[in-house]
Amino acid sequence: MIKAVLPPGVLSLHVLPADHHDRDWDNIVVPREVKERLLNQALLTLLHGRKLSMLAGLPHGLIVLSGPSGTGKTTLARGLAQVAALALAARGATTLVEINPHAFPSDMLGESQRNITRLMQDTIPEIVARRPHTVVLIDEVEAFAVRRSTASFETNPVDVHRATDAILLGIDEIARSLPNVLFVTTTNFIEAVDDAFLSRADLVLHFELPDVATIGRIITHSLVELGAQWPALMPLAGQRQDIADLAASCEGWDGRRVRKLVLAGLAQRTAVARDPGQLTFEDLQAAARKQGGVEWVGGAAPSAHELFPESRLCKRYDDESEHGHAHSADTVRARAPSHLHDRPEQPPVPLASGTVKGN
Ligand SMILES: Nc1ncnc2c1ncn2[C@@H]1O[C@H](COP(=O)(O)OP(=O)(O)O)[C@@H](O)[C@H]1O
Ligand SMILES: [Mg+2]
Repeated sequence: MIKAVLPPGVLSLHVLPADHHDRDWDNIVVPREVKERLLNQALLTLLHGRKLSMLAGLPHGLIVLSGPSGTGKTTLARGLAQVAALALAARGATTLVEINPHAFPSDMLGESQRNITRLMQDTIPEIVARRPHTVVLIDEVEAFAVRRSTASFETNPVDVHRATDAILLGIDEIARSLPNVLFVTTTNFIEAVDDAFLSRADLVLHFELPDVATIGRIITHSLVELGAQWPALMPLAGQRQDIADLAASCEGWDGRRVRKLVLAGLAQRTAVARDPGQLTFEDLQAAARKQGGVEWVGGAAPSAHELFPESRLCKRYDDESEHGHAHSADTVRARAPSHLHDRPEQPPVPLASGTVKGN
């Protein structure tokens, strides 16, 4: 990522291909056809946008990824930029620009419209001029291209109208003047996106929740990743029946939640949290049964003193000055050299349990 000061509304700028961007594409498990169509659509715009702009049905270089939260849209959009950049690498680099759709809140009438117009007319063309290929990612575009008929009560409806008009005008203008710029947008809430925006899309791809077989593949992928860190766990990724049973327990979950299942599995027992190499399918099944959370059951938990008795032999830091909690001004002053304050030197507040209260 380029660390220079970013123009307003731009969340990040990346120059692709870059090896560390490979993982996004690979991490998302979707049918082959989905990735293939996405990539083809992107390449058509990036490679042939200029010629295609001569067609009667003007392409807009716009892809919309829609679907429930946690189904991999944002990740796959980023991955698409990297894979397209790989395909085009021989012709030169690709810039990935991520737009922050929440960067244009405005109480002032017309201000978000002006900001969006500046973004579309000045900022993006200036970035496009830098490299042969450009992918513009607008995540959660519903914040940007709000359906004008249902704009929320809190926002000024006139301003929403104008902001949406500005984005539509901008897309039209870029489609005409810079036809090989690719816009990839995502939305968790397609009902909130303006119809005129959607009708400009060359492809609207509807993501679905993963089915049980896909959940199984995501779990396998996560276990392989764990195995790379803790080799003792590598055999788990080959236990197909256990994975299938586990996947069946996660039916209806989104991909993000399935990914977190492994983490929840590691957090079932303290021994495993301390040494993840001890993870078992029982832990993972327990995590799935608890939906990744906890059951609010069981007797009293051991006290801090009872936990980790072996650590009682280790050094204590009661006298160190870097306590991680807020002390009263008096305490801080008590530790400063005496010439910095006018009070007599006081001993630090002791840290024994119950003596220091948050303030
Ligand atoms: N189909 C999937 N296959 C594998 N992992 C997935 C899938 N869908 C979501 N995930 C996981 O969830 C994380 C969040 O996904 P994200 O791209 O933010 O989803 P969205 O933008 O649809 O809300 C991803 O980084 C990935 O780890
Ligand atoms: Mg997202």
